[in-house]
Amino acid sequence: MKLVFATNNPNKLKEVQALMPQHIQLISLADIGCTEDIPETSPSIEGNAEQKARYIKDHYGYDCFADDTGLEVEALDNAPGVYSARYAGKEKNANANMEKLLMELKDKENRNAQFKTVIALILDDELKTFTGICSGKITTKKRGEGGFGYDPIFLPSGYTETFAELPLSEKNKIGHRGKAIQQLIEDFSNESFNPRKS
Ligand code: IMP
Repeated sequence: MKLVFATNNPNKLKEVQALMPQHIQLISLADIGCTEDIPETSPSIEGNAEQKARYIKDHYGYDCFADDTGLEVEALDNAPGVYSARYAGKEKNANANMEKLLMELKDKENRNAQFKTVIALILDDELKTFTGICSGKITTKKRGEGGFGYDPIFLPSGYTETFAELPLSEKNKIGHRGKAIQQLIEDFSNESFNPRKS
């Protein structure tokens, strides 16, 4: 069975496909011919996830799910949060974002942070949301080659490796997106699951 995941980020698609039951094949925005930037203008992570899923349903007719993630840093009043992608500018450059965050935290002792993912699912015209949180700390330097985004500077609680140093299977098990996806999958098994295009 095919289900649209409203993303064109190949890293995310790979992460999430790895968690899905075998009978669910994810299709990306490119697969449905959506190449434009989907508006993400909400002031909250929840609002952006919902906005993306609704946009696909309204413009392309597919049942789908969309995710939005933010990194919330305690010493910065939960910034960058919903603005994580554009923290260092509209180019959405991961390296520049990390450098800016390390600079902002230069003199701070409190390095507590959490990733928060919200998934919005639209199935049979009903909207549901699922939230996954992963707490940890921001390192003082980038470490590791794997993952994407802020992974090289995020140390999940209970680990000595950053997300970029851990294998994908481990990140998926303890990570924010993995936790939200697990709830989504549980929901599929509770409901009669039959994604449609209107
Ligand atoms: P988006 O909501 O997926 O567009 O992500 C918002 C920002 O958070 C972007 O800068 C991403 O690179 C970053 N981000 C999202 N998920 C992760 C993750 O799993 N690890 C590290 N950074 C992430």
